[in-house]
Amino acid sequence: MSDEYQYHSTDLDLTGDPAEGNWSIRCTDVHKRLGGVSVLNGLTVAIPDDTITAVLGPSGTGKSVLIKHLIGLMFPDSGDVVVHGESVPKLTMPKLLALRQRIGVLFQDGALFGSMSVFDNVAFPLRQHTDQGEAEIARVVTERLTDVGLVDAMDDSPSQLSGGMRKRAGFARALVMEPDVVIFDEPDSGLDPVRTALLCELIQEMHSLHGGTYIVVTHNIASARQIGEYLAVLWKGRIVEAGNAERMFSSENAFVRQFLSGSAEGPLTMD
Ligand SMILES: Nc1ncnc2c1ncn2[C@@H]1O[C@H](COP(=O)(O)OP(=O)(O)OP(=O)(O)O)[C@@H](O)[C@H]1O
Ligand SMILES: [Mg+2]
Repeated sequence: MSDEYQYHSTDLDLTGDPAEGNWSIRCTDVHKRLGGVSVLNGLTVAIPDDTITAVLGPSGTGKSVLIKHLIGLMFPDSGDVVVHGESVPKLTMPKLLALRQRIGVLFQDGALFGSMSVFDNVAFPLRQHTDQGEAEIARVVTERLTDVGLVDAMDDSPSQLSGGMRKRAGFARALVMEPDVVIFDEPDSGLDPVRTALLCELIQEMHSLHGGTYIVVTHNIASARQIGEYLAVLWKGRIVEAGNAERMFSSENAFVRQFLSGSAEGPLTMD
């Protein structure tokens, strides 16, 4: 009988400090069933502080569901999710809302409001969550739009932008509250290889400028290689292996090797 989890590490060490500093996020033995299916099945992972972590894994393996647990859009059936020392499932609604303000999320399609200009999209969190005046808001929004190279498009509506520009606008909006944690759900989906590389470069630049915990969910090995300092490989709702990029790219684990080399040979098959 084959063991579904034979390739998954059992000794994911969550007690030690990674070389880069402290852990800012820890998930411990998280289980989550959705629609009668076990999606997260004993997921344990720690994400280092002030580092770009790439979360990699095949389609439908629970990456987006994991992200929803980090921002408290979903809660575990069992297990714990701790962000900056606070257990997300135990937070009261006001505390959860406060935590979410410290997390910037870039959703797959940028998730911009179609009826608002680029400027108003980026200004939205500031208008919603702060009492900053319009002059201060304009200063901050212009700065972030300059960072992502969209200052000339601030009056455009999202429908006038290319896919790459929409992602950059979403990125500017994710950064506007000066978050400690920034999460990107497949920032490279739908982009050509050159624009993907440019977006990754932008993510790196913003990280070196603002610091913080960056989590980039991707299936794109080139992106992971380009920007991932720490890598976590997810499969079947559980972490197969996690570690510093250098170690992961020379992993002995058959699944990790297959996935990181994009090979047809290995434990991952079509079914
Ligand atoms: N709200 C939901 N209700 C029922 N099932 C769900 C729900 N959300 C996700 N799922 C299921 O959970 C599994 C994992 O989904 P998830 O979106 O996390 O995958 P993913 O790893 O992000 O995949 P992709 O790389 O394609 O984005 C899928 O089988 C999906 O159908
Ligand atoms: Mg997803």
